[in-house]
Amino acid sequence: MIDLDAAQRVVHGRDAELTVVERLLAGARAGRGAALVVRGHAGIGKTTLLGAARRAAAGSGMWC
Ligand SMILES: Nc1ncnc2c1ncn2[C@@H]1O[C@H](COP(=O)(O)OP(=O)(O)OP(=O)(O)O)[C@@H](O)[C@H]1O
Ligand SMILES: [Mg+2]
Repeated sequence: MIDLDAAQRVVHGRDAELTVVERLLAGARAGRGAALVVRGHAGIGKTTLLGAARRAAAGSGMWC
């Protein structure tokens, strides 16, 4: 079976950006709030990155 919904959740080549997300989430859990601005050209993957960020938050019991 090919699960296209799952395939769409694969985020390629964003390890550095997701490391920043993880660091900010860890800071938030420790009481240090932060804002993250994601900018880039149309179609570069902003929404995809934010989807991954939301899943990372949910994975540690956070909601955003
Ligand atoms: N890192 C990535 N890995 C895999 N697919 C990606 C990645 N980044 C973007 N895509 C794919 O590229 C397409 C455009 O991505 P996305 O919608 O996230 O871009 P965007 O920057 O939010 O676009 P827009 O400027 O139109 O809002 C989507 O089909 C998305 O699945
Ligand atoms: Mg978008």
